Amino acid sequence: MNTDLISTIKKSFIKKFNNEPLMIFSPGRINIIGEHTDYNDGFVFPAAIDKGIVAAIAKSDSNVSIIYAEDKRETFEVTLKHIKPLSQGFWQNYILGVVAELQNRSKTISNFNMVFGGDIPGGAGMSSSAALENSVVFGLNELFDLGLTKHEMILISQKAEHNYVGVKCGIMDQYSSMFGIINNALLLDCRTVKSIPFEIDFKDYELILINTNVKHGLSDSAYNDRRSVCESIANMLNVKALRDATEYDLETIQDQVSSENYQKALYVIQENERVINASKAIKNDDLKALGQLLYASHNGLQNQYKVSCDQLDFLVEQAKINPNILGARMMGGGFGGCTINLISKTESSAFKAFISKAYKQKFNKACSIYSVKLSNGTHLIN
Ligand code: GLA
Repeated sequence: MNTDLISTIKKSFIKKFNNEPLMIFSPGRINIIGEHTDYNDGFVFPAAIDKGIVAAIAKSDSNVSIIYAEDKRETFEVTLKHIKPLSQGFWQNYILGVVAELQNRSKTISNFNMVFGGDIPGGAGMSSSAALENSVVFGLNELFDLGLTKHEMILISQKAEHNYVGVKCGIMDQYSSMFGIINNALLLDCRTVKSIPFEIDFKDYELILINTNVKHGLSDSAYNDRRSVCESIANMLNVKALRDATEYDLETIQDQVSSENYQKALYVIQENERVINASKAIKNDDLKALGQLLYASHNGLQNQYKVSCDQLDFLVEQAKINPNILGARMMGGGFGGCTINLISKTESSAFKAFISKAYKQKFNKACSIYSVKLSNGTHLIN
């Protein structure tokens, strides 16, 4: 965990509000495999990481609540009686959304002050948004003794994103941020919302993230479009979600859907299988097989589900020609953000130097490279 960030946030809170806050760390996440499967009731394989949001929060006697975003140096005041999304709002809506969801569930909270900051760049596909939502719901639950379970909290975070941010996300990000286990990835069944932890030790290999530092516009609407295509095909197949469909089922309606939408549904069915196969590969220490699944996942995201972009494809192509990289793929919602790469530890620094130069040459823009540690989920750090 980033101790500098913790002390910055704490100091900033005390300076502003002159009392001792509760301190919370809420992590971002990586996802080994299983992209766009969560809202199809399918499987995903995420892990919480040692980067995320640090929040300081305390009750207030004032008649407004004051929230300060340290990174943006922006203050926001809100009257709890009149909560609605801000049309110009960005980070504010994640917080307002959580407060509104608590109120919808008749959970009584009074005014509070909060300062937060983070060490994952927004738009990197590492779920700074879920980390922020979880930090708020977790903090308010502690502060006002709301008695929420972690499962209830993640549903509140998810609803905040649906209703106040407008992204009809699945449950992967909120789940992994809340329930992460140090050194483990979680094979999560998004229908039962239960996971099996897998201890991750890739021995001579490691996972690195390469951030394209781009986030293409319209990614939210493209996300919601994908979700509704999946739901309409599940409807046509008379199943609850695409998780319940096989490739054979899909073939039976091939002439009733466009070939683009057919490929999208096919991608989801195949990606679900890849997640299960990846968990077997990890169990058997078969990193080559795992790597192949990562490349196949990217191929599907690029060509079938169509949520990649040139920058992501370039990074994966460069990984593919390096024999010391077993697999790579775009991670998260897509249209920018990071790739995740399974690379030999001895190759790591040479590849980092190579890819930084190659990316800069190709796009006239720097990429960023991160190593991450797998961490525990949202928790108090007092
Ligand atoms: C975003 C969403 C998740 C998930 C991924 C794609 O991160 O928030 O619910 O759908 O995209 O796998």
